[in-house]
Amino acid sequence: MPEAAIPPRVRTARPGDLDALLMLEQASFTGDRMSRRQYRHHLHNPRAVMLLAQDGKRIVGSALLLFRRGTQAARLYSIAVDPQARGRGVGRALLAACEQRAAGRGCTRLRLEVHADNRAAQTLYQRAGYHRRGQRVGYYEDGGDAWLMEKTLAAPPY
Ligand SMILES: CC(C)(COP(=O)(O)OP(=O)(O)OC[C@H]1O[C@@H](n2cnc3c(N)ncnc32)[C@H](O)[C@@H]1OP(=O)(O)O)[C@@H](O)C(=O)NCCC(=O)NCCS
Repeated sequence: MPEAAIPPRVRTARPGDLDALLMLEQASFTGDRMSRRQYRHHLHNPRAVMLLAQDGKRIVGSALLLFRRGTQAARLYSIAVDPQARGRGVGRALLAACEQRAAGRGCTRLRLEVHADNRAAQTLYQRAGYHRRGQRVGYYEDGGDAWLMEKTLAAPPY
């Protein structure tokens, strides 16, 4: 079976994953990076879900979902795939797992921001059914604009 056909295992991150998460963050983003402190906070935050994609023992991707009281919209705060593991469906698998988790917590929508120049991420989201609902000018550290995107989630089966 070709490597691309093997779906990654996605699981909830644990405090012991902190170093691997930081390495992934370093490899994936040039600016707007999350700090060790922010990761540690989110790993213990009951209103956050941090997911990891694993290829054997190697952590190849991560995603951070945030929940807020009083809204049925969850927020995809971050998603990253190791540069060596891109183009094999890891991002798609992480995004699908985020949607399942959000729907499982009663959310009806998933929202996110993506850099206006980030074609790879925009394509990932568009192919998964996200639509543009606005723009935030100068949102990123490099002065770039953000596209605001959203998807309506299917209710989980009971
Ligand atoms: C964006 C990112 C998470 C995509 O992860 P990935 O594992 O490579 O994506 P997948 O292999 O699951 O691809 C999913 C879809 O996105 C599209 N896609 C992925 N990379 C792409 C690229 N470089 N250019 C165009 N489309 C791309 C694919 O075509 C695919 O759609 P398809 O399967 O229907 O053809 C990854 O490139 C990444 O980590 N980038 C750096 C961090 C980042 O920008 N995060 C997003 C912040 S908003």
